[in-house]
Amino acid sequence: MKRTIPCLLLFIIMVLTGCEQQSVNYPKRQMPADLHDDTAGLERATELFLHKCASCHGHPSEGRSERADFFQPPAPDFSEQKYRDIDPAYLFWRISEGKTVEPFRSRGSVMPAWGVHFSDREIWQLTRYLQKRADQGGQ
Ligand code: HEC
Repeated sequence: MKRTIPCLLLFIIMVLTGCEQQSVNYPKRQMPADLHDDTAGLERATELFLHKCASCHGHPSEGRSERADFFQPPAPDFSEQKYRDIDPAYLFWRISEGKTVEPFRSRGSVMPAWGVHFSDREIWQLTRYLQKRADQGGQ
């Protein structure tokens, strides 16, 4: 009986954090198969991230940026392992739609919607970049 409360708390924390991408509806998409060998695309995504994303999410060399917590909700840390295993279609959707979709809009997110600026290919390349960065522990 004594264990019930810690277990319940753990369950709630897991639901609130790691499992979020499963509790929202996003379109199922298949990452293009040739993306894995697209080294030029990965370089391009690295450049894009530095110029368009690092100001909020943190430069790879600084790890978790202090600016990330300036926002409410805070900008996530892409060196976290969960970004290696997360569904790529979820990342695609988040990059494309940003703060314009629920529940992020109601939470006051400042994440821009990049779908109007980037091609689908570029968004996939950014998705791949995020996966790779998490895989390498954020470097
Ligand atoms: C103006 C600051 C800002 C910029 C610029 C920005 N982001 Fe974000 N981003 C945020 C914040 C804050 C959040 C957390 C709130 C949310 O999830 O909507 C976020 C969330 C995300 C998420 C969702 C993570 C998750 O676990 O749900 C992804 C993916 C993401 N950003 C990728 C990018 C990429 C790629 C770029 C550049 C093309 C970018 N962001 C540029 C502020 C920013």
